[in-house]
Amino acid sequence: MPHGGKHMAATTGKKALKQQLVSFRVNDKPVELEIGSLPHQVETSHTLAHTLRETLGLIGTKVTCDNGACGSCTVLMDGRAVLSCMTLTVECQGRSITTIEGLADCETGALDPLQQSFIDHTAFQCGFCTPGMILSAKALLSDNPSPTEEEVKEALSGNFCRCISHYQVVRAVMAVAQEGK
Ligand code: FES
Ligand code: FES
Repeated sequence: MPHGGKHMAATTGKKALKQQLVSFRVNDKPVELEIGSLPHQVETSHTLAHTLRETLGLIGTKVTCDNGACGSCTVLMDGRAVLSCMTLTVECQGRSITTIEGLADCETGALDPLQQSFIDHTAFQCGFCTPGMILSAKALLSDNPSPTEEEVKEALSGNFCRCISHYQVVRAVMAVAQEGK
């Protein structure tokens, strides 16, 4: 038994030395980050919003309240809308994240129909809430390609706009739904 005990201690020691990583995909590209407290590492307390903006430079994701109340930090996780300020980066292991930077066609550069419709309907003023609005709408249309106006309003009810662009937003989303793109 003393032999076995020594062996276990050695194995545990080796494991402790191994760098812990968190791996996931962002906009279809693999991302692998070290977990730790050094400046280039991800701390276990870091939110996905922080990592996207500060570590990966994807500043299209906006942070307003940083408290789950405004929806401006919305991104897609495996196709579902999540608040990136309320999601820890270490919870993203194995997940696929889509940010506003990942919506346009990466080969042609063509905007996603929702992005184009927001432009066509002037569905923004300052634009700060827009990435979150578009990603919430994207999740809705993936689940329900023909929503009613009420369903659009419900899906976007967690996304706040201080410039009062709500009516144009609903029109922009309904236009995409009606065109069936
Ligand atoms: S910044 Fe995440 S909900 Fe407001
Ligand atoms: S367009 Fe300014 S916050 Fe919505």
